[in-house]
Amino acid sequence: MKLLIDKSRDLQGKITIHGCKNSILPIMAASLLTKKEVVLLDIPHISDVEVMIKIMTALGSKIKREGRVLIINNENINPGKIASADMSKIRGSSLILGPLLARVKFAKMVFPGGCKIGKRPIDLHLDGVRKLGAKVDIEGELITVKGNLKPCTLRLDFPSVGATENLMMAAVFTAGYTKIENAAREPEIYDLGKFLNQTGARVFGHGTDTIIIEGVKTVYGGVYTPMPDRIEAGTYMIGVAGCGGDVLFENVNPRHLNPLTFKLRQMGINVTPYYNAVRIKSKGSFSGSNIICMPHPGFPTDLQAPMCSLFAIAGGESLVTDKVFSSRFVHTKELNKMGANIKLSGNTARIKGVEELTGGEVEAADLRGGGALMLAGMFASGHTVISGVKYINRGYGDYVEKLRGVGVKIKAAY
Ligand code: UD1
Repeated sequence: MKLLIDKSRDLQGKITIHGCKNSILPIMAASLLTKKEVVLLDIPHISDVEVMIKIMTALGSKIKREGRVLIINNENINPGKIASADMSKIRGSSLILGPLLARVKFAKMVFPGGCKIGKRPIDLHLDGVRKLGAKVDIEGELITVKGNLKPCTLRLDFPSVGATENLMMAAVFTAGYTKIENAAREPEIYDLGKFLNQTGARVFGHGTDTIIIEGVKTVYGGVYTPMPDRIEAGTYMIGVAGCGGDVLFENVNPRHLNPLTFKLRQMGINVTPYYNAVRIKSKGSFSGSNIICMPHPGFPTDLQAPMCSLFAIAGGESLVTDKVFSSRFVHTKELNKMGANIKLSGNTARIKGVEELTGGEVEAADLRGGGALMLAGMFASGHTVISGVKYINRGYGDYVEKLRGVGVKIKAAY
């Protein structure tokens, strides 16, 4: 499959945002904590969710999808059976570690994969469970973790999103109080804590840098709607900023979008937040700016690539520094092929805005880089063909329909 995109101007209408990929994956993993049924609503058709379904099915989960609803039953699981090939495809596969360790005191996994955006070790996850008392054996790509956990105070060297999630879930049944210091504060962490508490866990401080988990004896199922996807929303908001137009984004939490909202306003773009919607009005001309991607509440690294596309056509020079994934810049090479002027130096891209990008043939090599190329195709004169679409399909659901709905000239070719 390839994407064919023509220059798109003056976008109008509304886009409804779907449930958040980075919330759904940990919450699906967290459902492994209970034998009761868990029903998740507003689940988009994205391939990372489908891969997670396969990973959990291999473990014995019974998962039914009815439209945008997932019905998960983990009554009988066999943690020894793993789908190694699928696990190595997505980073989110590492999240089965915590809940399995909590429920059956044993977890087997392979080193996770995900997008090629630089080194992505899981040492913080493994150090954390070791500190909680688990024994970790590594044989080639295979990791086996087992043991009874004991409460303690953990301090992460870096506020890793995945490590915070895994350790929160690992400690759910650990009698006493487990404390995670320097925890990640991303909204997705708050959402996971909210889900866990709804099922009967006792998690405190999620969303702050200190999380305390009071061990409980059991947790239950229930129905849950994961938070809206702030990165899906952000990507399309940047698209409207670049094309110009007036678009309302429904089903968003405007507070989650603050780092982007403030940046777009600084560049001269009109952003109005409502209770659960955001409206963008742009004339399609704006000045450049600088971003430094940092853990939340800093500017999100997942919007770094889309911002590079916007800065590529902004007035003046912009600097983009990524302090979370230092080599997440593969998209800049493709943007340069389209006429952008981007120079890399370490974890910083220096972008001199050009009058216009030119359509061409480019290839996505990672999810958000793929999102950035889609935007560049919308901004560029002429015709753009994007390959590597499987990366875009990992995290953007129904994007052709959604973007066409506001006037983007995009279609999929098979
Ligand atoms: C999650 C998101 C991803 C987002 C990232 C940062 C999911 C499925 N993915 O990824 O979209 O870009 O948060 O917001 O939720 N690190 C280590 N050792 C570890 C763990 C992480 O050194 O054990 C490093 C990583 O290499 C990276 C940084 O910490 O440089 C951040 O990684 P982390 O916050 O863990 O990101 P993920 O959970 O993988």
